[in-house]
Amino acid sequence: MHPDSADHQDILARDLVLPCGGRLKNRLCKSAMTEGLADAANRATGRHVTLYRRWAAGGAGLLITGNVQVDRRYLERAGNIVIDGEQSARQIQGLEALAAAGSEDGTQIWMQLSHAGRQTPKLVASEPVGPSEIPLALPGGRFGRPRALTDDEITRVVTRFGEAAAVARDCGFHGVQVHGAHGYLLSEFLSPRVNQRSDRWGGILENRARLLLECVRSARASTGTDFAVGVKLNSADFQQGGFSFDECLAVIELLNQEGVDLLEISGGTYEQPRLLGIDGLEPVFEEKVRESTRAREAYFFEYAAAARSVASMPLMVTGGFRSARGMSEALSSGQVDMIGLGRPLCLDPDFPARILSGELAVAPDVERGLRIGPGILGPHSPIRLIKTINGFAKIGWYYEQIYRLADGLEADLGMSGFKALMAYEKTEKAKSRALQANRQ
Ligand SMILES: Cc1cc2nc3c(=O)[nH]c(=O)nc-3n(C[C@H](O)[C@H](O)[C@H](O)COP(=O)(O)O)c2cc1C
Repeated sequence: MHPDSADHQDILARDLVLPCGGRLKNRLCKSAMTEGLADAANRATGRHVTLYRRWAAGGAGLLITGNVQVDRRYLERAGNIVIDGEQSARQIQGLEALAAAGSEDGTQIWMQLSHAGRQTPKLVASEPVGPSEIPLALPGGRFGRPRALTDDEITRVVTRFGEAAAVARDCGFHGVQVHGAHGYLLSEFLSPRVNQRSDRWGGILENRARLLLECVRSARASTGTDFAVGVKLNSADFQQGGFSFDECLAVIELLNQEGVDLLEISGGTYEQPRLLGIDGLEPVFEEKVRESTRAREAYFFEYAAAARSVASMPLMVTGGFRSARGMSEALSSGQVDMIGLGRPLCLDPDFPARILSGELAVAPDVERGLRIGPGILGPHSPIRLIKTINGFAKIGWYYEQIYRLADGLEADLGMSGFKALMAYEKTEKAKSRALQANRQ
């Protein structure tokens, strides 16, 4: 056991009672990670059940699913679960089984709800949608030019979030998380760089935040006051002219009125993937946030700590936490209430339990060598396309580990970035073909 682990364990193991009355058994949360495990009709499968049973046994107090989409035309990837319109009996049974598996050991499971917006890959939709017709500035031609949504379509998005939240509740989930981060539709509306509308959904921040707020209200209205409704929000987009930290604080003040149960602070977009601690192709645009020596490993901690002064709901910060010390110091600062964990749970589904018991002090660092090749072929390549491809290889590597866990295997820490990239490309293409065939 680590020398001072008893103190760490104590603070991480405390329960948290949410505004809706729900109780999380400890302060560790598995953050949303897209699973890509749905079948060609975008239904939950037995692989979801295996995966979530393993994660529930792994000790976290809260599991948040990967992004479940509310519009089957615009997915983040072909293997997303979709809740859109009438649900088949098979989908309901699959979701019930997933919720039951994720609830084992007194764990709470929430469904993340999202609309992929302009970050819908071309393999899924050649013409995605967004607030305005501004395409993603990424090389490689993976994303089409978006069409601007009409007012009626935006109103329909709001209804979809409410309908999907009601399905989540009926299937046994304890809550939903509205995905307002990472450059998907709701985050696109928040960004003055991507949202150039002049109607009630664009312009001043109150208008750009309207879609997020309406979706939160819609989810709450369809589920009631004793069901958890959370939000994931960017601290900033880290792009010139993008959603800024000052605006993030103003949005939190608006969310204070909405009875949000947990606000998760993250950051970045596909163009600037700060959520994973990766820099995009353009320079990182960062405002000065107050200095803090605490929890340096968690790269959004300073933002979350500064948000504490305006946020009236419980706060969670996600991104970079790897050590028991970093997690417990963040909590004992009193500035955050929950710790979000992503990648460590792809490598070791028991990571939270090992941290809580003091068996492990820090997660292994597996990312340093993760790249498609050395030098000019690596993540710091001056060639824009190669730099972007290395980003996809990294994410693909975690996708492959999630597949292994869902198949009842252990993670393969020795897998090369190149192999992961090839597997990722092959699987995404095959799943997209199956999706298109199923749509005909
Ligand atoms: C494989 C993978 C899939 C992810 N999918 C999602 C997602 O569906 N929704 C979301 O909000 N964030 C997603 N994320 C971001 C994580 O929730 C988290 O914010 C990020 O990984 C940083 O935390 P970490 O340093 O503990 O991994 C994903 C991250 C990874 C690695």
